[in-house]
Amino acid sequence: MPNLMVDLAGLKLRNPTMLAAGVMGISSSLMRRVAKAGAAAVVTKSIGVEPRLGYSNPTVVAVRCGLINAMGLSNPGIRAFTNEIMLLKQFKVPVVASIFAGNSERFSQLAQYVEKAGANAIELNVSCPNVEGVSQICQDTSLLFKVVEAVKSVTSVPIITKLSPNVTDIVHVAKAAEEAGSDAVTAINTVRAMAIEIETGRPILANKIGGLSGPAIKPIAVRCVYEISRALKIPVIGCGGVTCWQDAIELLLAGAKAVQIGTAIKYKELGIFNEIVSGIKKYLEDRGYRKVDDIVGLSHQY
Ligand SMILES: Cc1cc2nc3c(=O)[nH]c(=O)nc-3n(C[C@H](O)[C@H](O)[C@H](O)COP(=O)(O)O)c2cc1C
Repeated sequence: MPNLMVDLAGLKLRNPTMLAAGVMGISSSLMRRVAKAGAAAVVTKSIGVEPRLGYSNPTVVAVRCGLINAMGLSNPGIRAFTNEIMLLKQFKVPVVASIFAGNSERFSQLAQYVEKAGANAIELNVSCPNVEGVSQICQDTSLLFKVVEAVKSVTSVPIITKLSPNVTDIVHVAKAAEEAGSDAVTAINTVRAMAIEIETGRPILANKIGGLSGPAIKPIAVRCVYEISRALKIPVIGCGGVTCWQDAIELLLAGAKAVQIGTAIKYKELGIFNEIVSGIKKYLEDRGYRKVDDIVGLSHQY
């Protein structure tokens, strides 16, 4: 029987699946449901210092093979959200608090709040593609370095930096995060995209431009994970378009230690976690592997 447990920068995961940020991670009760369905860790919606309404509707549009969203980082603000994290203190699976801000001071402030509330790790959202001030951080490696270094100096839980595919060289950005002290990286956030209504010629999203997620971006995620994991020592969490166990295996073979699942929950509901975990288990069993780590980055040998 293969061992599905994964050690992710000190976080003990019972299997390699995690809930991706922004999809269901808005309340403790929803996160409990996701964990009950099999996810080994949950990532919260990205939380900022102040409450934020986000963009007006439409904020999401379904396209072939994915979704384009421009929510605009709507969230209740850290003071209101802290309670949701505290309610998960006795929770069996690790809670990863996703935070966003425009500068290192605010990132540090948020990090201290969520750690005190009981978060087991912190994911830095420096990569939201449709919010001014946030999308720029992952495009400016010196700013990114400052943010990661500042958060690292005020926290003791693992720091995960969430990277954007909307850059020329994602490996260069990932290396800056690693050098600044990030304990892991997540690759990838959504891909900048747009949809236009052809009868009227109008951009469909109120914000016009949004981020593409779902099956359409899986090959981009595979490439990013492959490139980053070959260049970095810290673990990589694969994210982007995972819809079935085969997609999860592909990301593990590319070099991911764990995989996050977001958009596919909309297609397959929460049963997707057990489906993927069973599929990974059978894949390992059929090939005589004893643990998940045995296949992480296996594609690098070719
Ligand atoms: C509706 C929606 C909201 C999202 N909100 C966030 C967010 O608050 N913070 C973040 O880091 N990523 C957010 N994301 C990006 C996802 O966490 C993930 O990186 C991306 O969707 C790719 O994975 P997927 O194809 O499995 O959805 C959001 C994605 C969607 C579809």
